Amino acid sequence: MTSECVLLSPLFDVRLFFAISFVYLSLFGKPFDGGKRTMDHGSQQSQTQQMPGPFPGYAGPQGPYPGQHPSLLRLDEVQREIASLGPQVCSYSGLQNDREYKRLERELTRLLLEVDKVETEGRPELQQARKRAAGEVEGLLRYLEGNATHPSRLAIEELTQEAQNMLNVGVVGPFRQGQALEAFEISEELVEAVQDVGMRLAQVKTGGSVPLRKARYKALTRVCAVQEILEGRVRTNTLALPLSDDTHEAVQRINQIMAQVSGARCQEVALLMGLSGRDSCTHLARILTELLVELDALDVSSNAAVRNYRKQVVEEINGLLKHLDLEGEGDDTRRYDLAQNDSIREIEAIRGRVSVLREEVLRHGATGQGAELQGLLTHLDQVDTGRNPCIREARRRAVLEVQALITFLDLWEALGRRNPGADEPPPHAAVWRVLASLCELQAQVLGFDGKRADKSYMVLEELLTKQLLALDAVDPQGDEGTKLARKQAVKHAQNILSYLDMKTDEWEY
Ligand SMILES: *[C@@H]1O[C@H](CO)[C@@H](O)[C@H](O)[C@H]1NC(C)=O
Ligand SMILES: *[C@@H]1O[C@H](CO)[C@@H](O)[C@H](O)[C@H]1NC(C)=O
Repeated sequence: MTSECVLLSPLFDVRLFFAISFVYLSLFGKPFDGGKRTMDHGSQQSQTQQMPGPFPGYAGPQGPYPGQHPSLLRLDEVQREIASLGPQVCSYSGLQNDREYKRLERELTRLLLEVDKVETEGRPELQQARKRAAGEVEGLLRYLEGNATHPSRLAIEELTQEAQNMLNVGVVGPFRQGQALEAFEISEELVEAVQDVGMRLAQVKTGGSVPLRKARYKALTRVCAVQEILEGRVRTNTLALPLSDDTHEAVQRINQIMAQVSGARCQEVALLMGLSGRDSCTHLARILTELLVELDALDVSSNAAVRNYRKQVVEEINGLLKHLDLEGEGDDTRRYDLAQNDSIREIEAIRGRVSVLREEVLRHGATGQGAELQGLLTHLDQVDTGRNPCIREARRRAVLEVQALITFLDLWEALGRRNPGADEPPPHAAVWRVLASLCELQAQVLGFDGKRADKSYMVLEELLTKQLLALDAVDPQGDEGTKLARKQAVKHAQNILSYLDMKTDEWEY
């Protein structure tokens, strides 16, 4: 026991331990070898002999010491490499044709070949260790490829390219061709189109996958930054600047700086959108900072209008500087993980409360939850989304959750109150029968906690669609009241369907 501890101690260097636990937590928490491990018929004994701890594949039964079987030593080394490649694969958010992808793929393939070359001499414990190592490397390869070729990853790329194209045509191209900087105007339409790309990016489903969330975050922060830069531009256009040169001796210089700032804006858009091969954000930041210093040194004390003018130019430069630290953004921060964000936490807290209320309603029926739900809607409305499309989307979805429960309660109460007279037209009664079925189905949808592939999902979807068909078959016979009721019932059924759809679409902030 003692010797084992001494011999293992170098392994438990903090960094290695971190790497190992990280890989373990993020990859091997779930079976990662396509089920191969369960097909592994290793004897019970050799299982129990394995080193306890988070990384069962790491050391063989005896731990690495001189005199250990060379094959086990070799596999130990492989495991060490897996432990260092694992986190890199986990956090890789690029595409298949990126250089980094090729490198990771090459390393993993090499490892796989090395594992393959390990001699097992027909010994079960060696065969088992080799199989495990191979399974883990294959798992990493699948993970890498799976996320880099995932439809959501490709959707992110497509949206990025869409933004690149429109910004190339609308901003970067004209700037490169030296078109008069002050003359060209960034249109409201372009700003709106960029914003639209941002909204669609926020909709991309990541299913909680880290690489996909990172990729979406990176694309989104850049598109949002560009949107803000362009909006700033549209604003200044309305300020009737620059002042004419002869107002004050400083004005001429400020006007020149303004022209440089306009150029910098185009360059920054190019940088953020990956349309610029040469320049770097750091370089541009330095130029802008120098302009700030120069503005600061200008003597404008005597003239309020000029002071004001200078102030606006300074603000513009600061606005541009704000986005220039985005270059490495998304690589080394965990900001893509909005779970830590206060606004998201607020939304989650509200969702937690909604889910308590929902349980209550489904178990015991309505007992005055309506008022609290309305209050939650108001609260959601006040959450600061910081213009982040993902936080906005999270809020929108939370609102839909609250509304689903409110409409259910409304329908439930309406059904309870219903007291049709003897003269109720039969088609009207038919609509209400459908509404009663919808109410039952909605209760099931509210309580549904499964996935799209589940049978119960498909059953629910089918039953809801049937209600739509049933409503379609109702002939109102010219009765306006029935027409209206049917229209509302159709809308309600469609809302339930889209709520079910939202509940299962694997969107994650
Ligand atoms: C992508 O990464 C996640 C972990 O973040 C993993 O669970 C998932 O299986 C990967 N997707 C594919 C298609 O491989
Ligand atoms: C949450 O996200 C918003 C929008 O991106 C940001 O403005 C805010 O600073 C974030 N808050 C925290 C605590 O991370």
